[in-house]
Amino acid sequence: MTKILAVAGKGGTGKTTLAALAVRSFVRGGRTPVLAIDADPNSNLGESLGVVVDRTIGDTREDFFEQKGSVPAGMSKESYLDMRLNQILIEAIGYDLLVMGRQEGPGCYCFINNILRSYSERLADNYKALVVDNEAGMEHISRRTTYKIDTLWMVTDHSLRGLRAVKRIHELIQSLKLRIESRGVVVNRAPATLDPVFTAELQEIGLPLLGTVPEDSNLGVYDMERRGLFDLPNDSVSVRAVQTLMSPMLS
Ligand SMILES: Nc1ncnc2c1ncn2[C@@H]1O[C@H](COP(=O)(O)OP(=O)(O)OP(=O)(O)O)[C@@H](O)[C@H]1O
Ligand SMILES: [Mg+2]
Repeated sequence: MTKILAVAGKGGTGKTTLAALAVRSFVRGGRTPVLAIDADPNSNLGESLGVVVDRTIGDTREDFFEQKGSVPAGMSKESYLDMRLNQILIEAIGYDLLVMGRQEGPGCYCFINNILRSYSERLADNYKALVVDNEAGMEHISRRTTYKIDTLWMVTDHSLRGLRAVKRIHELIQSLKLRIESRGVVVNRAPATLDPVFTAELQEIGLPLLGTVPEDSNLGVYDMERRGLFDLPNDSVSVRAVQTLMSPMLS
């Protein structure tokens, strides 16, 4: 069975960082191949993973749309789009990366979107694990183009504003009746002890606390040096914290 982990939360709270570390953890844990999906139009999961992104689903969709579906002779629209999609995957060691890219402009994309949906569903079967880095607004979750999810990390920093965003996402998910096996809050850049006001607010929301990730000075250094997080030392605090968070999914 493919394990699907999705990461959501307010902008800038560390979703992409934690998604990249989760990919690393699946790969190092031998749950390969992994498919990393960057579902943020301002995609940067590639940077965090340390791979160059030169093609996205959004570009392919626009190209196809602008050509009004003109396809080589003897080929159906479906198989042509399928072929183009197969060229989008970026292959790395132990995982592939699929970048959704910019969202659709005005126009009717129903045909393409249906193909995309069936493509990503078929694609998922080829992998042992999927990690989906979502955009802060969760637009595509509200458009229901997401898969069934095993685990959803709702990421927040140690702020009430971050928690309020978590609450909104929680309510959105409940109203859409999305299939999510287990969900909970991950506090990133957390102090050693959470503030009681923060903990009380979290209890009020009613979501379990899955764990915390401390401030890791290595992350700032790697960001400045444009290094992928696969190169972080194993004993880096963020790596270890994510490893602990991942243990239910690696067993
Ligand atoms: N635990 C941490 N310790 C130190 N720095 C961190 C930590 N987590 C994330 N950061 C830094 O915070 C910044 C924002 O992180 P990141 O890009 O992962 O957030 P995001 O939620 O994906 O943002 P966006 O909403 O813009 O996609 C990055 O520079 C990252 O290196
Ligand atoms: Mg991000």
